[in-house]
Amino acid sequence: MPLPPSSRRVFLAATGAAAASVWIPRPVKGYAHTEVRAASLDDVGISKWEIDTPALCVDLDRLERNIAKMQAAVRKNGIATRPHAKTHKTAAIARLQLAAGAIGICTAKLGEAEALFAAGIEPLCMTTSNLSPRKIRRAMQLAKANRQFIQAVDAAGNARDLSAAAREAGVTADIVVDVAVGTRSGIPPGDDAVALAKLVDTLPNLKLRGLLSYDGGAQHVNGFAARKERALKGLEGNVETREAMKRAGLSTEIFSGGGTGTYSVQHLTPGFTDVQVGSYVFMDMQYLAIGSEDGDAVYKDFEPSLTVVATVLNNRFPGRLTTDAGAKALTLNVPRPGVVGEPGMDYNPGSDEFGVITFTEARRTYRMGDRIEMIVPHCDPVVNLYDQMYGVRGDKVEVVWPITARGRSQ
Ligand SMILES: Cc1ncc(COP(=O)(O)O)c(C=O)c1O
Repeated sequence: MPLPPSSRRVFLAATGAAAASVWIPRPVKGYAHTEVRAASLDDVGISKWEIDTPALCVDLDRLERNIAKMQAAVRKNGIATRPHAKTHKTAAIARLQLAAGAIGICTAKLGEAEALFAAGIEPLCMTTSNLSPRKIRRAMQLAKANRQFIQAVDAAGNARDLSAAAREAGVTADIVVDVAVGTRSGIPPGDDAVALAKLVDTLPNLKLRGLLSYDGGAQHVNGFAARKERALKGLEGNVETREAMKRAGLSTEIFSGGGTGTYSVQHLTPGFTDVQVGSYVFMDMQYLAIGSEDGDAVYKDFEPSLTVVATVLNNRFPGRLTTDAGAKALTLNVPRPGVVGEPGMDYNPGSDEFGVITFTEARRTYRMGDRIEMIVPHCDPVVNLYDQMYGVRGDKVEVVWPITARGRSQ
């Protein structure tokens, strides 16, 4: 008969057999046991430069400062955060955001919402609509299990389908209308959006909570003044829609949008309640390039905390290094990865398994086996390439977090 898991752990610890690879619960600097990945316990306490590579690392001091800074900024501006988990997909980070004062966590995919809920995250808002009958049923099952789940809708037929599935599941589901800013998704602002909100309000088994209005195009506009103007102008029609909803007696309890590039101006949009900020926890080369309010070309509001550590595999050719981190470790997004401490290096992750660095000048000499660290091009898709994230303080691994919803794109 197999031993129950707790006895099995004690047994293995007592015999010393496989003790190194078995998870024996012990506190790890304030993080819950369940957040420490069993197979990686060996890595806790080692130097960041000893981790097997390529390794996704997050600097915990920087991460914590980013979360605190965002929270303080929006509090001062009289709004809230509802951070987007599409960036980190990690229950442990969602928990840090909620503990800092976030009013909820957004997800882009139903699978993300399911995985985070299974890991104990409850105030979830799915910002994309679900259209297929199977997904609609899954979403309403989730709404039944998790009374804090909110689902976005942007079409009348979809609202009717959700209502029917909610009735079948025996739940009244919280709904927000996704009102478009630009052309990606959502119902255009105006009469049709108000009519959809009215329909949601009258359909049985649905409860209208307000509206979403995320402007993806505004986030990376270069230069603060241009970004601010775009963010505020882009939402004017959405503000009118919200006011019409209010006049019609509909709930506008939620008026959510905004991101890392616009968090500091979005409170100037009348009625706005919260920003769905994602990338600010990690930052990346794309965000660093958008420019700061003080005119600096680098966006300095948040600190780059997410890096990939790689190993130099080949240094034999002048002005050239080969690493073990290619497209499968860093993606092909642009701008290319930034080599930490080496502004003169160009990193091309063009091969599947290899990265090629070219340079005319380097600040140090790199031998085969040396580690090298990169800021990632765009944080969201890089995170989705890894099963786990190494939480590092100073140079020491403090925690290894499973990336809870990694690959949960359905
Ligand atoms: C709907 C929605 N909200 C919020 C975000 C987060 O944006 P950012 O990472 O720019 O903060 C995104 C990112 O794509 C998004 O699609």
